[in-house]
Amino acid sequence: MRPLRVILNAKSPLINTPAWLALLEHYKKAKKLHMVDLFEKDPERFKRYSLQFNDMLLDYSKNRITDETLTLLFDLARQAKVEESRDSMFNGEKINNTEGRAVLHTALRNRSNTPVFVDDENVMPKINAELEKMQIFTNKVRSGQWLGYAGLPITHIVNIGIGGSDLGPSMVCRALKPYAHPSLKVSFVSNVDATQIEQTLSKLRPETTLFVISSKTFTTQETITNANTAKEWFLTGPGKVTNDDIAKHFVAVSTNKEAVEKFGIDSANMFRFWDWVGGRYSLWSAIGLSSILYLGMDNFIKLLEGAHAMDNHFRTEPLETNMPVILAMLGIWYGNFFHAESSAVLPYDHNLRLLPAYLEQADMESNGKSVDKDGRQTTYSTGKIIWGAEGINGQHAFYQLLHQGTRLIPTDFIASIISHHCDETHCNILTSNFLAQTEALMRGRSMEETREQLKEAGIELHKAEKRLPHMFFEGNQPSNSIVLKKLTPHALGSLIAMYEHKIFVQGCVWNLNSYDQWGVELGKNLTKKILEEIETNDDLYEHDSSTQGLLDWFRKCRKEEQNKQNN
Ligand code: F6P
Repeated sequence: MRPLRVILNAKSPLINTPAWLALLEHYKKAKKLHMVDLFEKDPERFKRYSLQFNDMLLDYSKNRITDETLTLLFDLARQAKVEESRDSMFNGEKINNTEGRAVLHTALRNRSNTPVFVDDENVMPKINAELEKMQIFTNKVRSGQWLGYAGLPITHIVNIGIGGSDLGPSMVCRALKPYAHPSLKVSFVSNVDATQIEQTLSKLRPETTLFVISSKTFTTQETITNANTAKEWFLTGPGKVTNDDIAKHFVAVSTNKEAVEKFGIDSANMFRFWDWVGGRYSLWSAIGLSSILYLGMDNFIKLLEGAHAMDNHFRTEPLETNMPVILAMLGIWYGNFFHAESSAVLPYDHNLRLLPAYLEQADMESNGKSVDKDGRQTTYSTGKIIWGAEGINGQHAFYQLLHQGTRLIPTDFIASIISHHCDETHCNILTSNFLAQTEALMRGRSMEETREQLKEAGIELHKAEKRLPHMFFEGNQPSNSIVLKKLTPHALGSLIAMYEHKIFVQGCVWNLNSYDQWGVELGKNLTKKILEEIETNDDLYEHDSSTQGLLDWFRKCRKEEQNKQNN
C-alpha cells in the first residue's frame, strides 16, 4: 500500500475487527489449498458454488475458497453493515457524505415506480417525465419526422461527452448493436485531441447530423471544447445555416440549465438529470439519450428492467446467494488477503469489448480512495486495478502472464451462449476457448503431466528435463464465469447493475464513499494553469524541473514547426 505523505492521526479500524482477524487467520490455511484438490474432494462443487439469476449464470466454483472462507467473508460483510447501507442507498439517504448527495441511479430504473424520496420529494414523477420527453423526441428522430435545416431526416448521431457521459452510452450502443435502428449511425467523441472530432466530422454531412452534448456539469473542458468545434463546423459548413438552425441539430443532456443555454442550446432541447446521479452511474438517466436514439425506447426500457431486476435481487436475496455480494467479497478476499493488485474482465463476446473500459471507470473512480468515509487513513488496500480486453484476443497477447506470471490475477470471464451472429463453427470455437481457459487457469499442468506429454511428443529425455520447468503450470488461478444466455438489453442491464452493486459492497466493507471523485480535481486545476502558460507563452507558475523541462520542449518544438511553416 502506498503510504500517505500526510499521515492522518486517525486510522480506519477495519483490520483490527473480529471478522477481519478471523479471515487473516483462515488465510494462513486457505492459501495452501489447490483448487484441483478442492474439486476432487467435492464433486458437487459447481452445484454448490454457482447461481442462476434469470438467464444469467454465475459460476464461482473456480475460486480459492471453502465453505469456511465464504462464511467468514459474509461475516465481514455483515460486520460492515452492507445490508443496512444498501437500504440507505435505495431509500435516498445522502450516502455521498462529502458532497451531501443521495445516490439514486437505482431510482432511474425503478420500473415498479414505487415512490423514492430525496429531501421529502418523490423523484419518480420527474424521472418518468424525462423518460416521456426522451421518448417523444427519439421517436421523432427515429421515424424521420425530426428534420434538419435542409428538410432531411437525421442519419447520424454524435455523442460528445467524456467519462461517464461517454463510456456508459458507448458501451451500451456497442453491446446492443444488433438492436440498432437500421439507418441510424452513432459516433462518440470524447478526446480533446482534435484528431477524434476531425476524423468523425470528416465523414458527416451537417444537414443529417444530430449532436448530443452530454455533460452532467456542462463545464468539462474536453466536452465543451469539442462541442464548440462541432458548432463551428456546423455553422461554417456548406449550408447557409443560422443560429436558429442549431435547435434542429444540437441537443444537450445535463444538470446545468444555465450553462446549456449559455452554449446556445434552447432548454426545450435539453434533457435533464439530477445531482443524485453520479457521472459513472448515469447511463440509466438522460445520458442514455444517444443509446435511446440508436436502440429505441423499447430496448432502453428493457435495459432498465434488467437493471431493476438485479436491484431487486441485490435488495432481497440473502448475502449468501446474492450475486453482487459474492463477487464483491471474493474481490476482497483476493485483494486484501492474497494481496492481488488487479483483476481482469475478459468478455468472450465481441459486442462486450467496451465493458472493461466502462468498468475501469465505474470501479476505480468509485473505490480508488485511501481515506475512509470518516476521514481516516485506510491501513488496507482498497480499489483494485481493473483492466481487461476481449478474452479471445487476450489469449494471444497477455494470457501468458495470467498462466505463468508471478502475480495472482483473479479474472471474470463473461460469455453469451447464443450469439447474434450464430455461425455454429465460430460459436463452438469461441465457447471452447472460454471454457478451456478457465479450466487451464484453475488446473494448471503438473510436472508429471508435462513430463508425460513431452515423452509422448518424442522429445529426448535430456531436452525434456530442461524444458520441463518452462512448460509447467502452477494453476490455482481464480476465475468467475458469468454466462448470459444471450446479450439482450435486459441481460446487459442486469450485468451492469450487478457490477455497480459489487462496487457498492466493496466500498461498504472498506468504509469508503464510493460516490465522490476528488482525485480528479488536482489535474484539472493544474491543466488550467499550464494552458494559461501555453497560451500566453509566459512562465506564470512555478513547476518542478521535469514539468518545466517538458513545457519548454513543447514550446521549442512547436516554435520550430511554426517557423518551418512560415518559411
Ligand atoms: O473528471 C471526472 C468526471 O467528473 C467523471 O466523474 C465524469 O463522468 C466525467 O468527468 C464527465 O463529467 P461531465 O459529465 O460533468 O462532463
